[in-house]
Amino acid sequence: MGRCKRAKGGGAEAGDPRRTAGTRRTDRSEAELVLDAPAAGAFNAGMAETLQVNLGERSYPIRFAADLNAEIAAEVARLGAAGRRIAVITDTNFAKAQPAALAAMFGSAPVLAVAPGEGSKSLAGFGRALDFLGEHKLDRGGVVFAVGGGVVGDLAGFAAAAWLRGVEFQQVPTTLLAMVDSSVGGKTGINIAAGKNLVGAFHQPRAVYVATGLLGTLPAREFAAGMAEVIKYGLLGDAELFAALEREPLTVASPALAATVRRCCAIKAAIVEADERETAKDGGRALLNLGHTFGHAIENAAGYGDYLHGEAVAIGLCAAARLSQKLGCLGEADVARVERVVAAHALPVRLRAPLGWPALHDAMTRDKKVRAGGLRFVVLKRLGEAATQGGIDLAQVEASFREVGAA
Ligand SMILES: NC(=O)c1ccc[n+]([C@@H]2O[C@H](COP(=O)([O-])OP(=O)(O)OC[C@H]3O[C@@H](n4cnc5c(N)ncnc54)[C@H](O)[C@@H]3O)[C@@H](O)[C@H]2O)c1
Repeated sequence: MGRCKRAKGGGAEAGDPRRTAGTRRTDRSEAELVLDAPAAGAFNAGMAETLQVNLGERSYPIRFAADLNAEIAAEVARLGAAGRRIAVITDTNFAKAQPAALAAMFGSAPVLAVAPGEGSKSLAGFGRALDFLGEHKLDRGGVVFAVGGGVVGDLAGFAAAAWLRGVEFQQVPTTLLAMVDSSVGGKTGINIAAGKNLVGAFHQPRAVYVATGLLGTLPAREFAAGMAEVIKYGLLGDAELFAALEREPLTVASPALAATVRRCCAIKAAIVEADERETAKDGGRALLNLGHTFGHAIENAAGYGDYLHGEAVAIGLCAAARLSQKLGCLGEADVARVERVVAAHALPVRLRAPLGWPALHDAMTRDKKVRAGGLRFVVLKRLGEAATQGGIDLAQVEASFREVGAA
């Protein structure tokens, strides 16, 4: 993309009709997100809504409601009546927190509850998941249900992709992060010693059920971590969403929660539809990495587990805003707005304790996406619009990192 030349007085402000999502731009010479903005209407407890992810023969619906237990139970019954076996993979935290929901959805179907956390997204966890499918004799007509956060979705999805060279799977996300991000788009996989998410497959789910009522038992820190991804969507493609979060921070009890989750899924679906396998030269799925190159480096340098993924991404969003300022795209006031929204959602804007630049730099150059494309970042052209940019000066990355607390 071309360098930003920030006009005196600033670019369009968040909420500016010139920049709202849904605006179809004609100057598409640069990699940027163009959305056709499906209506982001609220839904109430009794009503389910559908958003279709259009990927040809791999298309699927995302269903939204506060409670989808009965609908999932009906799907399980339909599969049973057709002689198709199902297997459910969840984790022990969700199984303990919501046993009634699990029973209502899946009755007496076989359930594997893995240990919570990244440790289960491993070769050993993958082996256990495959053994479970084997024990329950899933044949080619079998269906795997992933019921959990991103860990369960990635693990169960990869097991479904590998089992008998690919069986169907359906996603029931139970964390905010999984609802707005990991359950949609078909990336599945596990971690190995060489790095996170290095082994996996593109395997689209057959359906995604986003039942926001399941968030009722999610710990507050995990909800906040998911908010980092919500803020990311506002920053990269929806100035109105960002402005709404700025006016009133979103909580699990917010009336706007359902519509916001749906809007994030619509943004992700639009990006995935345009670049399913992340092969676009510029922009495309890579835009979803806004804040993530910084964030992955923080997670890696701090040691996994110190920061939740979303917390590292939150700091990464602040660092990306600072980098965008150095490139002449954002003003000081924009950076301050990003930090205020991040902080208002109980997320860190700076490292809790300094991490050395050499370690962060090292981690960045080992990041698989950086390795593949050189020092390439997602930068903000303004609040609500992002683009990929190569040829970034390392000194500006270092300076941005130092401004969020690197030593
Ligand atoms: N596939 C993708 O496109 C994609 C995108 C983003 C992230 N990810 C992956 O997602 C993972 C992170 O996902 P996450 O943030 O959902 O973490 P997670 O799956 O570890 O869940 C977070 C915690 O919440 C608990 N939990 C989940 N639902 C609950 C509920 N309703 N009530 C109570 N506790 C509940 C879990 O047991 C866990 O302790 C990472 O492995 C990341 O790599 C994948």
